[in-house]
Amino acid sequence: MARILVQFAHPALEKSRVNRRLIAAVESLDFVTVNDLYEQYPDFDIDVNREQELLLAHDYVVLHHPFYWYSAPALIKQWEDLVLEHGWAYGRTGNALAGKRMLSVITTGGQREAYQETGANRYTIQQLLVPFEQTARLCRMEYLPPFVVHGSLRITEAEIEAAGARYRALLTLLATGQAAEYAAAQAPFLTDLAH
Ligand SMILES: Cc1cc2nc3c(=O)[nH]c(=O)nc-3n(C[C@H](O)[C@H](O)[C@H](O)COP(=O)(O)O)c2cc1C
Repeated sequence: MARILVQFAHPALEKSRVNRRLIAAVESLDFVTVNDLYEQYPDFDIDVNREQELLLAHDYVVLHHPFYWYSAPALIKQWEDLVLEHGWAYGRTGNALAGKRMLSVITTGGQREAYQETGANRYTIQQLLVPFEQTARLCRMEYLPPFVVHGSLRITEAEIEAAGARYRALLTLLATGQAAEYAAAQAPFLTDLAH
């Protein structure tokens, strides 16, 4: 079984409707470690050694967060800036993460059709996630297609439940070595739950 680290970042979890349920759907899986970054580091004072040890102990790194300003909440950026050190994560001798896999799990307020060239947001989610993809590449990691729950403001309780079940199924697929199957069959996981 591969091990999966979920780097979870939500600055106001008490107000969350979608992400709190997604996390609840996967945290009981025994191959999953949920690292709640805002709970661990409310003052942004990241323990770099702890974070690097966590990364080394897992095969997959999931960046799980609501989409904020076409990107992630600020603590994810702080985590990248401090933890992905030159000579450790990248650079000539920076091989610590080589061969691991990364993916983004995000919820968006915008509907799926808004994330296309002719939509209100003008770019696809994959295009907007390019900084994460290239960060993974620079660290010699493989970046998998994202798992996206769109329309989080209008999504129904039943749809949130279904998204949680898909998220759980996805992580199980990855942990059992079927990442290639996931990448090839990404469409069912790119949720399109709110219309
Ligand atoms: C500061 C902020 C920025 C946001 N930026 C975006 C955005 O760029 N694109 C988008 O689709 N939704 C955006 N949203 C909506 C959030 O993605 C949405 O509230 C979240 O996915 C809901 O998840 P939750 O129920 O777990 O809080 C933003 C929300 C906040 C508070």
